[in-house]
Amino acid sequence: MRAITQHGFGGPEALVVVDAPDPRPLPSEVLVRVEAIGLNPLEARLRAGEFPLLGPPPFTLGWDISGVVEDASGTYRFRPGDEVFGMPLFPRAASAYAELVAAPALHLARKPAALTHVEAAALPVVGLTAWQALVDLARVGQGDRVLVHGGGGGVGHVAVQIAKALGAHVITTASAGKREFVLGLGADEVLDHAAVDFAEAVRDVDVVLDLVGGATAERSLPVLRPGGIMVTAVSEDDPRLAEAFAAAGLRFSGVALDPDPVGLRGLVDLVERGALRVHVREVFPFERVVDAHRALDRGHLTGKLVLAVTR
Ligand SMILES: NC(=O)c1ccc[n+]([C@@H]2O[C@H](COP(=O)([O-])OP(=O)(O)OC[C@H]3O[C@@H](n4cnc5c(N)ncnc54)[C@H](OP(=O)(O)O)[C@@H]3O)[C@@H](O)[C@H]2O)c1
Repeated sequence: MRAITQHGFGGPEALVVVDAPDPRPLPSEVLVRVEAIGLNPLEARLRAGEFPLLGPPPFTLGWDISGVVEDASGTYRFRPGDEVFGMPLFPRAASAYAELVAAPALHLARKPAALTHVEAAALPVVGLTAWQALVDLARVGQGDRVLVHGGGGGVGHVAVQIAKALGAHVITTASAGKREFVLGLGADEVLDHAAVDFAEAVRDVDVVLDLVGGATAERSLPVLRPGGIMVTAVSEDDPRLAEAFAAAGLRFSGVALDPDPVGLRGLVDLVERGALRVHVREVFPFERVVDAHRALDRGHLTGKLVLAVTR
């Protein structure tokens, strides 16, 4: 099979397409022939050596996949030919920038017919991050006021839709060019983060979902009502922040993302009910992973970037 690997940390050019041995599924695993691979900002940081999750190169990045089961002999959960998607093994290496991936059957779900492989590959990491933050940790309910920082990005655009599906009043920050996009996702109020100070403009929020970190996370404290919660996907390791929220009587949590099959089924259910769609900003052929990572490095994305495996 072909896989994308890197022999050292570096810029996008560090990523190279190589021939690699086919992975062999263990009992309880399936072998997936990958059709599309979702990209996430974490992978750019891992590529550059900014975050030591996978240890030193060589390694193959990637978690988000959608594809077709090729070998299901190790499990009763799927059959060859089933269309599946998921983010297997996270945060351990799944080596998913590849044509074949061996994955625990429990870490995959059947791909909803309403999503193409490209759309399905874009969903697991961002969808489960938003699900775990809003459903599992914050327990968002009918009528809650939810502020999503960065509602036009990968996690944010899914989070806005999940919060709406849970019955919340959704306020989100996004740059001016993404205003119509986030309104189209169902956001009730949109603040241009370059023009409006959200810390002045927003009050009495039950849940903040922070997808930006730094000063944005710090300045979110006064927007929460007493007993409210901030879940951050970015600043979870800041002990000062945790202390400040505790001192103010507010709850504070990071997201410990994992390939939760219950959450994955919850996302499928929302897709099938027409309550959740995935916006793919750009699709790159597998061979053009360097260009895809250049786009990832530029940031300020609307929705997601995906690699399509061309055969
Ligand atoms: N802890 C976890 O398990 C976990 C899981 C998934 C993601 N993450 C992290 O969560 C963050 C978001 O991930 P993502 O995939 O959604 O990234 P993304 O697709 O790059 O989206 C980030 C969004 O933030 C917006 N933004 C930038 N500065 C902003 C500001 N000051 N105020 C409001 N919005 C701002 C950007 O849009 P504009 O063009 O509007 O600026 C962009 O749409 C990343 O840091 C990622 O690594 C963590």
